[in-house]
Amino acid sequence: MLKARIAVLVSGGGTNLQALIDAQGSGIIKSGEIVLVVSNVPGAYALERAKKAGIEAVTLSKKLLGGQEKFEAALSDVLESRKIDLIILAGFMSILSGGFTSRYPRRIINVHPALIPSFCGKGYYGLRVHEAALDYGVKVTGATVHYVNEIPDGGEIIAQRAVYVEEGDTPETLQRRVMENAEWIILPEAAETVSRRIMKERE
Ligand code: GAR
Repeated sequence: MLKARIAVLVSGGGTNLQALIDAQGSGIIKSGEIVLVVSNVPGAYALERAKKAGIEAVTLSKKLLGGQEKFEAALSDVLESRKIDLIILAGFMSILSGGFTSRYPRRIINVHPALIPSFCGKGYYGLRVHEAALDYGVKVTGATVHYVNEIPDGGEIIAQRAVYVEEGDTPETLQRRVMENAEWIILPEAAETVSRRIMKERE
């Protein structure tokens, strides 16, 4: 069976990448195959996870390449040369320009650690999202997987899952619960749903 060729973009620890790799192993992802991991941060641990799984790992540093435009041009080159069908942002901490995202309509998905439209958009990433949720005092948060367009965290929602805030939560404990009980579940499921759609459209 032909599979959608998936690239995963990362910046850090890569636990969501690991969830995708594991889901591929267990058969949750069966319509797609992760063939490439790209990090915009040199030395990110996610690169090790890719290598351990036998997946090609590439680093593209905005700074070394000379800015956003050059970074996106290099990223496009890498994606085109590997014939990528689906781009998954899994803890990717850089915003892609509208010029870039418009070239891949419904072909880029992102996992965000909150229930969009809460605690999202520019400046809301990583631990900051959970700090903001705790500061506000919400009792329920969660994660969202959505298509990526020119509006940061503004594309069509594919999946969401709620997680309760608990008494005494810190940003770290809340982040961990949201990852375990939401992100690591809905991201692989969404990767399968979108891969299946892409391959079906090709029939
Ligand atoms: C995850 O919680 C992910 O949702 C979030 O950063 C963390 C990355 O962890 N992403 C964003 O905030 C993007 N706006 P990971 O590297 O272990 O997957």
